[in-house]
Amino acid sequence: MTIAKDDIPHVGPGTAGGAWLRRYWLPVGLESELFDIPKALKVLDEELVLFRDSQGNVGLVGQYCAHRGASLEYGDVEERGLRCPYHGWLFDVNGNCLEQPSEKRGKEFCAKVRHTSYPVRELGGLFFAYMGPNPATPPPLPNYSPLVDHGGIRQIEPTRHFNYNWFNFYENSADPVHVWILHGSSAYGEQSWGNRFFSTDDPPNFEPVDMPYGMKIVMSKNTGDSVIVDEMSLGFPSILQVGDTEFVHGKADPKKLMNNGSDIEHFMFITPNDDHHFMMFTVDYYTGPDPNFFTHLTEMRKREEPKEVLKFYDTRPLMPFRGNVRREDIVTQGTQKLLGERREHLGTSDRGVIMLRKMVLESIKAVAEGGDPKGLNLKEDSNGLVKLDSFVGIRN
Ligand code: FES
Ligand SMILES: [Fe+2]
Repeated sequence: MTIAKDDIPHVGPGTAGGAWLRRYWLPVGLESELFDIPKALKVLDEELVLFRDSQGNVGLVGQYCAHRGASLEYGDVEERGLRCPYHGWLFDVNGNCLEQPSEKRGKEFCAKVRHTSYPVRELGGLFFAYMGPNPATPPPLPNYSPLVDHGGIRQIEPTRHFNYNWFNFYENSADPVHVWILHGSSAYGEQSWGNRFFSTDDPPNFEPVDMPYGMKIVMSKNTGDSVIVDEMSLGFPSILQVGDTEFVHGKADPKKLMNNGSDIEHFMFITPNDDHHFMMFTVDYYTGPDPNFFTHLTEMRKREEPKEVLKFYDTRPLMPFRGNVRREDIVTQGTQKLLGERREHLGTSDRGVIMLRKMVLESIKAVAEGGDPKGLNLKEDSNGLVKLDSFVGIRN
C-alpha cells in the first residue's frame, strides 16, 4: 500500500489518514456543553449523536436510527438510553436495542439489532471517544496534565469550530516562522518579551525535535551569557501545547520569565469533523501565584482586536484580521487548500513541517501495516501526569 502526503488530510472511514486517527482517544465534546438533549456532531466524517442518559452514562452513537433512519438528534433522553421519536426504539450508550414498542414478537429481534456506538470517557471536563478497531480493548486514555487536578486552576474555553482541514492548523505549529511574520504586529509584537524574542530583524533559531509523544519545535535565542528557549509541542495525533501564553497574551513580567519560567500549560485538542471542518477544545492549567489569572488573560485577549479600518470597497470575507492572532491564523491556514491539492515550494524554513509530515506518514504506514502508531502509550511522570514539553525560560 502506497501512502503519500495526499493521504494525511483525509479522515473518513476507509481512508489511511482516518485509520491512523482512529487509533487514539479523541475529544468529542465538553461536559459543560452537554445537557439533557442529544447533540448531533460529525467525527471523522461519521454522523453521530452525543448524549448523556439520565443515569449519567455518556454515549456516542450513530445519528440515524437503526430502524428506518430517523435522526436521533430529536430523540428523547431517558434513564436507560436514547429513544427514537419515530417508533420509539430505545438504544443504550453501547448501541444495544432495549425496546421496540411496535414489535410484539418478543425480544429476539431487538437483541439482533446493533446500533453504531463508540466508547466514551470523561477526563477533566472533556469527553473522549475511541473509534478504533478494538472498542473492547482500547489503548489507555492518557492522563493529559491540564485535565488532571494537580494544585492549580483550569480553564476550558467553549468549543471552537473551524471550516477548513484540520491538518492545516496542526502543521502550522511546526512552522514557527509565521509567528514573527504573520503575528509580528499583533500580540506577539506588542509586549517587551515577545517583541524581543520574536523580532523579525533578529528571529530566534528553531529546530524540530523527535519526541516519544510526537515532536516539538525548540526556538532559542542566544543573548551572550544565556540562551532563552521557547518550546511548542505537537502530541500525536492532533494535540498542540504552547507554554508562552502567560507572557504573550497574559503580559506577565519578563523578569519572572527569566527567573521562574512559565506557570501555564495551554493544550489545544483538534478533532476533525470531516475533511473540511474541525473542532477545537482548548484547556489551560495554571499553577502560578495569581488567583485571577484567567480573568486577566480574558481581559488581555479582548484587547487583541484587529485595528485596521475596513476600506469601503473591501469585501474580502475575512477582513479585518491583522491584530488578532487567532484571526490571523484562520486567514492563512483557512485559505490553504488541502495538503496534496495545493502547489508548494518548501524551503529550509519549512524543516519543521517537513519533519512533521514525514513522522505522520510513518505512523499512517505503521497502522496500514497492522502496527501501532507513535504516541499511543505515553509514559506518565512521577505524579501520574502525561505532559507535553512547553519550557519557556533560560537554559544555560
Ligand atoms: S426510525 Fe427510529 S424507531 Fe423507527
Ligand atoms: Fe499562529
